[in-house]
Amino acid sequence: MNRISSRHILSISDLMHQDIELILDTADSLKEILARPIKKVPPLRGRTVVNLFFEPSTRTRLSFELAAKRLSADTVSVAAAASSVVKGETLIDTARNVEAMRPDVIVLRHSCSGAPHLMANYVKTAAVINAGDGMNEHPTQALLDLFTVKEHFGRLSGLKVAIIGDIAHSRVAHSDILAFTKMGADVFVSGAATMFPVMIETMGARVVPRPEEAIEGADVVMALRIQKERQGGRSLIPSVREYAAVFGLTSERMRLAKPGAVVMHPGPINRGVEMAPELADGPYSVILDQVTNGVAVRMAILSLILPEDHLTSL
Ligand code: CP
Repeated sequence: MNRISSRHILSISDLMHQDIELILDTADSLKEILARPIKKVPPLRGRTVVNLFFEPSTRTRLSFELAAKRLSADTVSVAAAASSVVKGETLIDTARNVEAMRPDVIVLRHSCSGAPHLMANYVKTAAVINAGDGMNEHPTQALLDLFTVKEHFGRLSGLKVAIIGDIAHSRVAHSDILAFTKMGADVFVSGAATMFPVMIETMGARVVPRPEEAIEGADVVMALRIQKERQGGRSLIPSVREYAAVFGLTSERMRLAKPGAVVMHPGPINRGVEMAPELADGPYSVILDQVTNGVAVRMAILSLILPEDHLTSL
């Protein structure tokens, strides 16, 4: 059995509080490997991780590849444009054919919500990890966000987290709301009304129309990109300039946050739209820490999701 309660990682909802604690504690102990001159340890030697990225990615794809390599697993990466998907192969056929080559883990990013869940229904031996499915969820991003905040503040419970941006189309927002509320933080979300799903309050977040209300007294302020690629060509805001003026994270708005608050962004950033460049690069930014921590958290996930009896010591 793997050491977390779920065979696959498809949604934050699949993980119990103690699973998340275990992932964060494991990432904390694995992170020092990334600072060693030789950044490689043997526990996943002989294991194979297949990365299927059917949507663009810089951070998630690279960090899954690096995480697997740091733990001595073999990794193979396939992008949609270079796969038989372009010849009309279905996701289920792709899953069955990939599994026939006996990988231990399949990491899937896909533009369709639910694609990893569909794949997980058809693979029998490999674990499936959701690396972002449409506008649904991005659970490993939420776990690295939790890790980054816990690393900074030493705790998650009782913190005020403000998430500002395109909440409806952001899989990061959905996973972060589920993850931070599960760990005892209070999550406030704000953004253009046309970019809010009605169910967001049922996920545990408080919706406030003005970003200032979300940011006031916040420990963590996260800005999210407008996800134009998921808006079906519709115009949901009068202009980007007006959106930036009303909802953009600026130094002036950030002064409303608690002293010592941190600025986060999952990337990629549209500088000057959802976030002012001086905040992205400023002293309160932990954006590059998020990227570094992504490798440690994905190392933890890979090492915990694979059966323990095959692991060797670090
Ligand atoms: N945060 C994130 O998912 O970035 P990429 O799209 O570059 O993977």
